[in-house]
Amino acid sequence: MRETKQDEFEKYKHEVDESVLTAIDSTKRSRKYVSFNDYPWAKLKNELKKAVSEVTGETPEQIELTMPPNYVAGDFSLEVFSLAKKLGEKPNVLAQKIAEYINQHELVIIEKATVVGPFINVDARKQKLYRIILSTISEMMWYYGESDTNAGKVVVIDYSAPNIAKQIGVGHLRSTIIGHALSNIYYETGFNVIRDNHIGDWGTQFGKLLYAYLNWGNEEKVAKNPIEELKKLYIKFHEYAKENPQANDCARELFARLDAKDSELIALWKYFRDLSVESFDKIYQQLGVRFDTVIGESYFADQADAIVNECIDKHLCRKDEISNAIVVDKIGDIPSFLLKKQDGSSLYITRDLATLKFRIETFNPSVILYVVGSEQELNFKQMFALAKLVGYLPQNVEAKHIGFGLVLIGGKKMSTRGGTVIELQDLIYTAIKKSREILLQKNPEISPSDLDYVSKIVGIGAILYNDLSQSRIKNISFDWKKMLDMEGGSAVYLQYTYARINSIQKKLIDVYGDVDSNQDNEDITFASNSEFDLAKKLMIFPEIILQAQRSDFPHYVSKYLEELAQLFNSFYSEVSILKTEEKKLRKSRTLLIKDVALVIKKGLFLFGIDVPERM
Ligand code: ARG
Repeated sequence: MRETKQDEFEKYKHEVDESVLTAIDSTKRSRKYVSFNDYPWAKLKNELKKAVSEVTGETPEQIELTMPPNYVAGDFSLEVFSLAKKLGEKPNVLAQKIAEYINQHELVIIEKATVVGPFINVDARKQKLYRIILSTISEMMWYYGESDTNAGKVVVIDYSAPNIAKQIGVGHLRSTIIGHALSNIYYETGFNVIRDNHIGDWGTQFGKLLYAYLNWGNEEKVAKNPIEELKKLYIKFHEYAKENPQANDCARELFARLDAKDSELIALWKYFRDLSVESFDKIYQQLGVRFDTVIGESYFADQADAIVNECIDKHLCRKDEISNAIVVDKIGDIPSFLLKKQDGSSLYITRDLATLKFRIETFNPSVILYVVGSEQELNFKQMFALAKLVGYLPQNVEAKHIGFGLVLIGGKKMSTRGGTVIELQDLIYTAIKKSREILLQKNPEISPSDLDYVSKIVGIGAILYNDLSQSRIKNISFDWKKMLDMEGGSAVYLQYTYARINSIQKKLIDVYGDVDSNQDNEDITFASNSEFDLAKKLMIFPEIILQAQRSDFPHYVSKYLEELAQLFNSFYSEVSILKTEEKKLRKSRTLLIKDVALVIKKGLFLFGIDVPERM
């Protein structure tokens, strides 16, 4: 009897275990890494580092190298402020010495240096550098941007994490979008990434849902429109319980039975869970998002007691004499919190502690990211603090809460009562519909199948880019005009730039036949400043990806892409590739724009955004 009781749940746990094994496998699969040192940007930096170490006798880990604005003479600018401070030297004296060294030696990329205060302005051997940049990108192709910086390390990224029997809300949408982008960005820097969807599928609220379903549920209705119906039932319970408070006790009892894995209730719960996951998947598919594991809170419910007991043994919490709840007292300036409710049921934070312990034991990560709205900041502070004390979070693992702002409608937080809740599916439909309109306006000749395809990727792109193109800490809203602005600041601007480059390439083929940009690297050349500037911008793409990863701010990538597209557009208004008679130069220019298109495509890919070949 007892065995059959456990069956359903054990079966489900077994399925999860299988997915976990596959995920572990994926982190062990061998992967070819691009060495960061092979990038022109790294080669340039290494030349400078060598100069610094020859002069000072010390090899710096990092040097502050930037691309200065146009009014500064020099292609790059090296700032020696912090280096001088470390060495106890005057910045301008140190700068002078390094510049002297550079000017007296024959370097590969760097031609000469001049000093302005604590800055060393560096001039590159331009044709040579240009050649190196373009040939590196055409060699690496789609791998351009990847690096071995974090090779061999594992990161677990916890994102999306909606709650079952409810719609995915806009907060979960933000988590989904940001988490997906961070997963791609981390991967790009060498990390093995575990994409974990920690769905909310346990907790006392399921006692209420079970009560409602058992009393008023209609199987057919739920099967037809699961999330909608389950939500209605849940609301009905709350209305009913206002008049009939004893329903709350019944719900608590039902949850206790669920918690004890009563077979009838587990079957129902599993049914709700499956329906919910199915409906989440529909949204994920449209957004192009995937996960390695969907473990969920339920998996950890059984471990909550052991966690609490360990904390009691280690004197990290206590039983409150009056309420019987388990309390963790203040840790430093972090406020006190509960580990177990007075009715003995486990809590979100307790299940999260079990999850953290599991993740560390299972995946051996160096980093765990929790992509969850900023309103849960305190929860994560408390969880991490206790995890450290009890020994679940060792020093060599970094657990980070990646918070983000709200979604505002008309300047206000969405509210069910105010009737300003957006359904995700509606949002996606609206985005696609609006994209259709502007695409038709721009190109009335577009074929129906192109229009279908392009409006989808432009619409989805608008939603993703709107979220990722500004600091995640900020609140966002849906300003369609801005989100679909062809002139800039939007995904469609970049998608359009990409498609434009494609059509230029086609024209080149029409006019010159084979424009195969493959040519001897020695023949690569440029004639105008704008094309050299463009190449310099392409050069720092791998560094931008690293910046986005280190800071957990994807918007560094979009800022970069927009600047790149602007540089391309000014290059293109200045230079006509079609009218470039000289063959080597024309081929070089063809190669340049091909590389620009590649980097735009790759950058948008990191955001989960597709590009259309034409539009
Ligand atoms: N389901 C939770 C919520 O909607 C988010 C879970 C985030 N992940 C975590 N490990 N706590 O609030």
